[in-house]
Amino acid sequence: MTVEAHQPVRIVILASGTGSNAQKIMEYFQGSEDASVIAVFSNNPRAGVLEKAAKAGVFHAVMEKEQYSQGTVLRDLLLAHRADLVVLAGYLKLIPAEVVAAFPERIINIHPSLLPKYGGKGMYGGKVHEAVMKNGDSFSGITIHFVNERYDDGAIILQKKVPIQAGWKQEDLEAAIHHLEHALFPGVVADLARHIQQKRANSPQ
Ligand code: GRF
Repeated sequence: MTVEAHQPVRIVILASGTGSNAQKIMEYFQGSEDASVIAVFSNNPRAGVLEKAAKAGVFHAVMEKEQYSQGTVLRDLLLAHRADLVVLAGYLKLIPAEVVAAFPERIINIHPSLLPKYGGKGMYGGKVHEAVMKNGDSFSGITIHFVNERYDDGAIILQKKVPIQAGWKQEDLEAAIHHLEHALFPGVVADLARHIQQKRANSPQ
C-alpha cells in the first residue's frame, strides 16, 4: 500500500433541488477516512441542497451556466477539485460527453423508476411518479446507474422494486421511493469508493 492509497476518495455531488439524498450521503461520510464529500455544486441558486451542504459544513457553490453546459468547463471544474467520484443526486442537467470521457465509471446517478421505464429527458421527480400512477402500474422502484452522455441511459448498478399498494396516491409512492433511495444510495457510493481505493492500492505508483 502506498501513501496515496490512504487518501479519502473525493466525492463531488451535483444537485438541482431539495437535496435529501445529498444530505444522506454527506451524513454517511461524515468523519469517514475512506471517503469524503468535498463539494456540492448546483446549477440552481435556490436549490435547498445548498443550505443542507452549508449546515453539514461542506463546501458548496452555484455553477454559472457555462460551468454546467460546457463540457470542458465542467470537466475542468471537477478536475480542479480533484474529484474521484461524481454523484448526481437530483441533478437535472445533462452531463456533457467531455465530462463522461474524463470520469469513466466515476459518475453515478439515482433515478426514481425502474429504468429504462420512465426515464429520459423531461422525466424527473414528480413527473415520473405521476406517469407511473396514471398507467396503473403495480410496482415502481429506483435505479442507480453509471452516467453516460444520454439521460438515464448508463449501465445499471442497482435496481430495487417498490410495490404500489391499493389506494396509494402519488405522494405515497414518492415517499416510499425517497425512503428507499435514502436507505440504499449512500451504501452504493461507499461500495464504489471502496472499489476506487482497491484499484489505487493495486496500481503501481
Ligand atoms: C430523487 O427522487 C432522485 O431519484 C431524482 O431526483 C430526486 C431528488 O430528490 N433523481 P432529493 O433532491 O434528493 O430530495
